[in-house]
This record gives sequence, C-alpha cells and structure tokens, in this order.
Amino acid sequence: MTTACAYTAREADSDGFIHYPPEEHQVWHDLIVRQQRNLPGRACHEYLEGLAKLALPHDHIPQLADIDAVLLDNTGWRTAPVPALIPFGRFFKLLANKAFPVATFIRRHEDFDYIQEPDIFHEIAGHCPLLTHPAFAEFNEIYGKLGLDADKTERVFLARLYWFTIEFGLVGLNPQERRIYGGGILSSPSETEYALSGKPEYRAFNIADVLRTPYRIDRIQPIYYVLDKLDTLFEIAQSDIMGEVHKAMSKGLFEPHPSLAD
Ligand SMILES: [Fe+2]
Repeated sequence: MTTACAYTAREADSDGFIHYPPEEHQVWHDLIVRQQRNLPGRACHEYLEGLAKLALPHDHIPQLADIDAVLLDNTGWRTAPVPALIPFGRFFKLLANKAFPVATFIRRHEDFDYIQEPDIFHEIAGHCPLLTHPAFAEFNEIYGKLGLDADKTERVFLARLYWFTIEFGLVGLNPQERRIYGGGILSSPSETEYALSGKPEYRAFNIADVLRTPYRIDRIQPIYYVLDKLDTLFEIAQSDIMGEVHKAMSKGLFEPHPSLAD
C-alpha cells in the first residue's frame, strides 16, 4: 500500500462531488454489467442482499455520499475518500472508526480483470455490499483496532487474515453451496469465474493455518479458505486473534504453493 501506484485518485469539488470523464463511467458500466451476469450462483446471498440495498447505478460511478446513506443506515459504517495508496496506520485507523477507505480512481480497460491497486470498483462493488452485514462490518472494525496496536511484523501476519477473508474468502463447506464473499474476487470478473471452478485448492477456514499461508497479490490465488457461514466472522472477531498471530509468528510460514514461485 505504500509503494508507487500507476493511478491517481480524483479529488472532490467544493460541493464534495467527484467528477469523472465519460470513459471512466464507461469502465464502471462495463464492469458492473459483466459482474451482474457473473454473480448469481457465485456470490453469497448476504452480498447479493447488500448489493440490492446499495442499488448501484450502471451508467455512472456512484458518489460516496449515496453509498454512505445506505451503510450508515445498516451498520453505522461510511466510506472515506483516500488517495490511491495510504499508509497502513491510516488504513487501520479508518477501519477502527467504521470508515472504509475508497480510492477515488477507476482502472483502465487494460486492467479490466484485475488490478493490484484497489480502485473504486473494488471498494464499492467488491466490499460495500457486505459492509451492510453486521458480521462483516464488525470483523472489519475489530481488524482495524488490532492493526492500530500491532507492530510491523504483527501487521504482516494480520494482513494474511484479511487477505484470506475480506479479500479472497469463500463461504460454504459443501461444494454445491459454496459461494464467494471476498471483495478481491467479486471485483475481478475473471477471478469470479475461476474461484468456484474446482481448479484452486479449497481449505476449511482455520485461523492458525491462514496466518501461516503465503500469498501473492500479483497471481491468481491457488488456495482459498472457506468459512462454514458468514456469521463465523463474528466469532473470529471475538476470538484471541493476536494470540493466534503470536503462535503463527513462532511457528513460521508454510512453504509457498508452487504456483507462487517465480
Ligand atoms: Fe479490498
């Protein structure tokens, strides 16, 4: 999050309105239309319910105030416009205060399927539907509070928990009922199709394993961790996460999956 980024966030005008050129609205349109086809039968029902609440426009990039009205009403969350990349400390502080950072830029067409930098489509269409859900919202808030107090090494371990849940989590241990809740998947048209294809490896969620599993942000994920149900995020949030982090730190990481080697 603190390395160079190929994108620049757009600034709001004096009325708090963010203007985007027509070609950027077109990217939003193309992404949301493609995902509308992809999501039924793949996204978890809690996500789809949140998506219905947000009623995202198809023909233009939504303004954050419109998203906030729905989030505040459901879970007391809101969004916070941020530059393309922010320091970890600011990221955790926002989450701890029930504010979800949204970088106000959108990917170019050449990055249509996946970008490493989280853009407004990733944050709004990928994460905000589930921020209307109490378990998902609470997990984010607790994660932010833990991250604020964590040192640099602890944060690297915590990042794996976030990665394998909020970003790339699946739910449903029975393969026929397995669905996606991770925003990193749900904002990537190609990964939405791949995630439930049977090609990756599926492991039942276990925090001790998750914290020790290497990942890369520039590869399609070879391993997904699967929750039994979304409300389990409540239980994880209330568990001794930092105790698990310390155990994982003493045991060290698993060998990376072969597809993650250079
Ligand atoms: Fe994300």
